Amino acid sequence: MRLHVADHPLIAHKLTVLRDKSTESPTFRLLVDELVTLLAYEATRDVRVEQVQIETPVATTVGIHLAAPRPIVVPILRAGLGMLEGMTRLLPTAEVGFLGMQRDETTYEAITYANRLPEDLSGRQCYVLDPMLATGHTLIAAINYLLEKGARDVTAICLLAAPEGLRTLDEAVGERGDVTIVTAAVDERLNEHKYIVPGLGDAGDRLYGVV
Ligand code: URA
Repeated sequence: MRLHVADHPLIAHKLTVLRDKSTESPTFRLLVDELVTLLAYEATRDVRVEQVQIETPVATTVGIHLAAPRPIVVPILRAGLGMLEGMTRLLPTAEVGFLGMQRDETTYEAITYANRLPEDLSGRQCYVLDPMLATGHTLIAAINYLLEKGARDVTAICLLAAPEGLRTLDEAVGERGDVTIVTAAVDERLNEHKYIVPGLGDAGDRLYGVV
């Protein structure tokens, strides 16, 4: 597993406002959107491209465009939905699939309650959107599912990660070079309720309210 912590003053600034408990939902949503676009820039460094010949107004030249098959973006419902626009802004031609997952609040294991993805993901590059890498169970389930369906590689974009979750994920996916985590920060630890400390609270509730 590869880990990329996006170290940039704008990312740190936006993340600090996001963490602040006095930041209300409308600002929170806007900041998540902006942060994801910045993280998406880092996360797509290895997006597959191919050469293409074009005509500028002046000459013929060779450039690049995204290769086929198109990448697929997979927000994990519910909180990952708040990251979708920020990602598709940079990758407007990507396809979007959905995984509905929630954690069982007693066992903290991931439960899949919705799945809208192509059956065959052969050769596809997948970008999973999940704001909080806490225990890692949700991401492990999502990544394993995508790789089993043939995904070529999986990059997960998270706002925050806990060291415990990163360790669990690393043990689960081992030395595979086809799994990358891109995050804005690695926090201190998980608390007894498996929330990230200092974290930002419940990302879904802060995006959408308590429902
Ligand atoms: N999910 C969240 O929304 N926040 C956490 O801190 C951990 C999991």
